[in-house]
Amino acid sequence: MYQSCHDLGMSAPMPVPVPASRHLARHEGQVTSEQRQQRLRQRPATVWLTGLSGAGKSTLAYELEHRLHGLGLSSFVLDGDNLRHHLNRDLGFSGAERRENIRRVAEVAALMNQAGLVVFTALISPQRADREMARAIIGEPHFIEVHVSTGLDVCEQRDPKGLYEKARAGLIPQFTGVSAPYEAPSAPDFRIDTAQHSLADAATLMLDGLRQRGLLGIW
Ligand code: ADX
Repeated sequence: MYQSCHDLGMSAPMPVPVPASRHLARHEGQVTSEQRQQRLRQRPATVWLTGLSGAGKSTLAYELEHRLHGLGLSSFVLDGDNLRHHLNRDLGFSGAERRENIRRVAEVAALMNQAGLVVFTALISPQRADREMARAIIGEPHFIEVHVSTGLDVCEQRDPKGLYEKARAGLIPQFTGVSAPYEAPSAPDFRIDTAQHSLADAATLMLDGLRQRGLLGIW
């Protein structure tokens, strides 16, 4: 279903879905990915935050974006809740719709990486297979999986949007952790439990880890 088509100029090819039409051209620009990276003085990557609703993915993603901005690096947050108001407004929470949600966000992240940006995604992305699809779309060298592993008990206690209470009352079907499964990553690049770390510490740990791996390196 996926075929490799284009790359970032420094990495393995990125796969894209086979298009519905066979009658399409492919246009090449004159500015290379390498030139974009040199202009921005950074290497692009997608930091894929996965975890339960209320685990702290969005909060951590926006803190990381803020930190990178302070360091003179350009990044952008793709937040599941926010995108579901616009780009993904037609999607619900069935397995197929979540998969399409993740596919679209991965494609947008891949484009942003091509433009040279560091991307932080904050999506529950509960299925392992769907996260692997995202990895394939974005390209292995740029994909960093982060499990925001805050436990269900803590997320439910926080219940920042009151959704767990509604889900327990049967008012929200297929709610992750309550009536729909969450498959934790078995070997994520990083694991952060926001019940164990302050936001500042969690962001510092993440940034140190990314730096140690040569990601976020400046040209
Ligand atoms: S994902 O499963 O497709 O990755 P996504 O991260 O985009 O989910 O959206 C999750 C957010 O949608 C939750 O944080 C919550 O605010 C809201 N939401 C509404 N219904 C559900 C549901 N059935 N399961 C999980 N989250 C839901």
